[in-house]
Amino acid sequence: MAGQSFLLDISMLLGLMAILSSCGSCSFHTELSLEEATLKDLQRAFYQNKLTSRQLVEFYLEQVRRLNPILKGIIEVNPDALDQASRADLERKKSSPRSLSPLHGIPVLVKDNIATKDKLNTTAGSFALLGSVVPRDAGVVTKLRMAGAIIFGKASLSEWSYFRSNALPSGWSARGGQGKNPYTMGEPCGSSSGSAISVAANMVTVSLGTETDGSILCPSTLNSVVGIKPTVGLTSRAGVVPISSRQDTVGPICRTVSDAAYVLEAIVGADRYDNSTIEASKYIPKGGYGQFLRAGGLKGKRIGIVREFYDFGPDDTFYTQAYEKVVKTLKKGGAILVDNLMIDNLEQIFDGSSGEQIALLAEFKISLNAYLKELVASPIRSLSDAIEFNKKNSKLENLEYGQEEFLKAEATNGIGDAEKAALARLAKLSKDGFERLMIKNKLDAVAAPGSLISPVFAIGGFPGVSVPAGYDPQGNPYGICFGGLKGFEPRLIEIAYGFERLTKSRKPPSIKRQ
Ligand SMILES: *[C@@H]1O[C@H](CO)[C@@H](O)[C@H](O)[C@H]1NC(C)=O
Ligand SMILES: *[C@@H]1O[C@H](CO)[C@@H](O)[C@H](O)[C@H]1NC(C)=O
Repeated sequence: MAGQSFLLDISMLLGLMAILSSCGSCSFHTELSLEEATLKDLQRAFYQNKLTSRQLVEFYLEQVRRLNPILKGIIEVNPDALDQASRADLERKKSSPRSLSPLHGIPVLVKDNIATKDKLNTTAGSFALLGSVVPRDAGVVTKLRMAGAIIFGKASLSEWSYFRSNALPSGWSARGGQGKNPYTMGEPCGSSSGSAISVAANMVTVSLGTETDGSILCPSTLNSVVGIKPTVGLTSRAGVVPISSRQDTVGPICRTVSDAAYVLEAIVGADRYDNSTIEASKYIPKGGYGQFLRAGGLKGKRIGIVREFYDFGPDDTFYTQAYEKVVKTLKKGGAILVDNLMIDNLEQIFDGSSGEQIALLAEFKISLNAYLKELVASPIRSLSDAIEFNKKNSKLENLEYGQEEFLKAEATNGIGDAEKAALARLAKLSKDGFERLMIKNKLDAVAAPGSLISPVFAIGGFPGVSVPAGYDPQGNPYGICFGGLKGFEPRLIEIAYGFERLTKSRKPPSIKRQ
């Protein structure tokens, strides 16, 4: 029946969980469904013996059974998830409260380009990698397991992280099918589409995505969730099906800023399989990211407004007004707005002349071939094998969508003169543009609508955080993105948390049957 909501009987498996809310002086019982539960809610329920990890995983398995056939946010569920949950429940009994990570016993979904050495496949959504055997867990997965998290499954994505062809529909992969935005049933944006869809629709607690240019920030915005695109190197890329070691980064996609901060805390840090993590370790704050979840996080922050990003044209009064309201909220929260700024070279970054694509194509071939070579077993061993695989399996891989980026990448020949020039140009664009703007104006962050600004962050390895800001009259979610210099995660989290506290925009989707 059209219009029937699935969310009314969300707790059919468990019934509504009565969770004791411990709000200091006003202790009271509330009926709280597991839908929208945060890490804090869940840990509290664990410790009060109101919930087990096993029940939590059972709840999500039921959610996946009912919602995933429509939304296609998940490619594979881990057959060992329930066992891992039971083990976490046992460990909790034997541990002193508070000695465990906020992720202990929590199911985490990881994008299908992030390797897990278990029963799950790691395929970037492509049949070409089905049956490949990874040498070990990805660096970030090792850290998740150390924190006691449950690897719940693999999220769908835009196949090959959207690097096979620009004609590929966003959120589509041969193995995952077409992922759907749970708010609109339209495109979810990618490439970390499934990660965003699945947390938005309460099919899992938290997730990991990856970004090379926009792949965390865009789906986060469009699916009304929080995404953190960390400084490149802050999180290990070892064991991630790559595009570019210069731009790739792994980050959390969650329903709240605090959940995202705790997931980030669990996955940052040095990894001997990704040397960039050693240098970037200096950006990790002593005492972790939790300390930056402060209600007054906006107070005194210098936030830059680059007006070019706010120009929606004279006809789009909705978004023009919506983002004016967002800017006013920042000010109301105590931020010092530095308005009417310009980023030098912005046109060059967006008109295709920056050199980003030249660099990425060559880097992709080099890094993908290195990833494939390291696999213990694999149907393909090189980019050229992948191209051949797609030709031979043109139906399965829907070759109608093309593979022109693969072909262009295959035609490159290492980092030659053109690539060196492109890399130099990119570095200069960042230095003379965004970096100069931030330093000259002593900014803590730049705020921009949606994920429009993501190429600026991508080419410089800069961090960004996307937070839900509302819904347009058609029900499309929209967000605001805060970005800063390398290592600015603490203040971006403060700003994002302060904004979230003031606005509380996110609402769960009411998912309609087709
Ligand atoms: C991994 O792929 C193989 C081959 O298709 C399949 O048999 C197996 O069930 C997959 N693993 C999971 C956890 O889905
Ligand atoms: C990391 O750096 C060390 C020392 O320079 C080098 O021997 C090693 O091969 C590098 N590891 C990787 C994964 O690049």
